[in-house]
Amino acid sequence: MSTARRVRTAILISGRGSNMVALIEAARAADFPAEIVLVAANLPDAGGLERAAASGIATAAVDHRPFGKDREAFERALDEVLQAHRIELIVLAGFMRVLTPWFVTRWQGRLINIHPSLLPDFRGTHTHARALEAGVAEHGCTVHFVVPELDAGPTILQAKVPVLPGDDEASLSARVLEQEHRIYPQGLALVASGAARLENAAAVET
Ligand code: GRF
Repeated sequence: MSTARRVRTAILISGRGSNMVALIEAARAADFPAEIVLVAANLPDAGGLERAAASGIATAAVDHRPFGKDREAFERALDEVLQAHRIELIVLAGFMRVLTPWFVTRWQGRLINIHPSLLPDFRGTHTHARALEAGVAEHGCTVHFVVPELDAGPTILQAKVPVLPGDDEASLSARVLEQEHRIYPQGLALVASGAARLENAAAVET
């Protein structure tokens, strides 16, 4: 068994948490460089919370709704939970809150996301519908460092899938999701091991 210290990692979710499950599975390996010690959600009924608890991982819900439009106040409450669990690295996995520059700067280089498109194409939401509408031949997903500008952070890893004749949003998103589950654990391992770093607003791999 490896004796290397594993990076204390939190996964933030808002929904079903299929990427979260893939990350938890990968992190079961003793030599995986990150340990998932917390799953936190901004919605107390996020399905992924139960799935995480069933895997024996600590969970927390910090409901954003009582904070109204004050995003930073919500993030301060979330940050307190992260500090209490001595979190070193944050993985966003279907976390549907836009983060403020305050939070992003605080966690700069230690905050990653997966986006269901080949960034810089199709930032924002409804990526699969927009890819179909645009008629692209290839689509995919991107693991990236989070920077204050939405979906604009440096890429760590990407996976491509073909867009096939007859595809609809459901078939295309399922094909992309399969790749998300494959590359997100790889991306997390690269960052947790220090092999991929955020330097001068670019992702650097060693
Ligand atoms: C994924 O498509 C991810 O790329 C996007 O939100 C979705 C989350 O799905 N950011 P899940 O909750 O991980 O199943």
